[in-house]
Amino acid sequence: MFKVLPAPAADPILKVMTLFREDPRSAKVDLGLGVYKDPDGKTPVMRAVKSAEQRLVTVQESKSYTTLSGDPAFRQAMAGLVLGEAADPARLAGSTSTGGTGGVKLGLDLMHMVNPDATVWISAPTWPNHMALTKAAGLNWKPYRYYDAETGAVARAAMWADLQEARQGDVVILHGCCHNPTGADLNADDWAEVAAFCNARGLIPFVDFAYQGFGDGLDADAAGVRLLATRVERVIVVASASKNFGLYRERTGVCLVQCPEDERALVQGTLETLNRQTISFPPDHGARVVTEILGDTQMRTEWEDELTAMRDRMNGLRRSLARALRDACGSDRFGFLADQRGMFSVLGGTDAQITRLREDFGVYVVGGGRLNMAGLTEESIPQVARAIAAVL
Ligand code: LMR
Repeated sequence: MFKVLPAPAADPILKVMTLFREDPRSAKVDLGLGVYKDPDGKTPVMRAVKSAEQRLVTVQESKSYTTLSGDPAFRQAMAGLVLGEAADPARLAGSTSTGGTGGVKLGLDLMHMVNPDATVWISAPTWPNHMALTKAAGLNWKPYRYYDAETGAVARAAMWADLQEARQGDVVILHGCCHNPTGADLNADDWAEVAAFCNARGLIPFVDFAYQGFGDGLDADAAGVRLLATRVERVIVVASASKNFGLYRERTGVCLVQCPEDERALVQGTLETLNRQTISFPPDHGARVVTEILGDTQMRTEWEDELTAMRDRMNGLRRSLARALRDACGSDRFGFLADQRGMFSVLGGTDAQITRLREDFGVYVVGGGRLNMAGLTEESIPQVARAIAAVL
């Protein structure tokens, strides 16, 4: 009877992960799945996370449930980290979420309850799961063009042309920083324009904020989302602790919904009902770890220092790869890599070229040519640059 099930659609990112694992060659380079790696190719447990976990072993007295929306202390700590001065507890509903992904789904489920006819506007390109999650929430989506592959920058004119079609009550998914997959971010003027546009059209900005601290710094990366929260009445922000706290498998994130004060209790209750119908009580271990770190001066400093080192390493690898490609190609056509931010950039390329990079050179990137900078090392850069110059 289960044969009636449609064949599961493979996620393009996870497909690359499997292919890499199955490749017996030793000189292979994994630039696929978006996890941070150190120069030894390891995804470390951050030092502050270790400290917080050690402390929890001693002081935590119960693993009983928190609340249907998780521990309010975590929500408050994350609201401070993400929204800074713009966080207004009287207007913020929210919930701990099962990673950023669970938060995006929760926010979209909420929007479906508000307006099942809303269209969700999604940047093209984007993280492929945005479309899958939107569909799973029962909402329709449309793409807005976002990236100009010629210049490596945001395709502003095309983006605004496409968004003209958005109707009142629609949702616009934006990447808070370190756009996945392009590494091309909105600037301060763009965010101001987004705020004004959402206000004029009655649109809900929905910010997926998975890489705070990976671009230019914790506050610099949050400038856009903070501006939106200051200027737009209703905003959804989903922040993930997977990358900046390295808590990937602990599934730690938060879905924050900013709304007018007299809507807050209803939104809060609805988020809790949605949790009850899916996960009941959100997981707490990662959330507790984050709350400990953010609330302790010494651990917080330790965390920020390590995060800074990770960011500096990724930005350094960007510059090294751009330099190596300039030498290998004899042109500056990949110069944009040095200017973009975060884990990812896209090189372009047809499916056949991406397959050739993988099969002939052992270089694994996601379809469309997305590469994870953190998967590079100073040692692997010459091999990767040669491969890219030969194939693309
Ligand atoms: C990625 O984009 O590679 C990461 O966010 C991991 C994932 O879940 O897809």
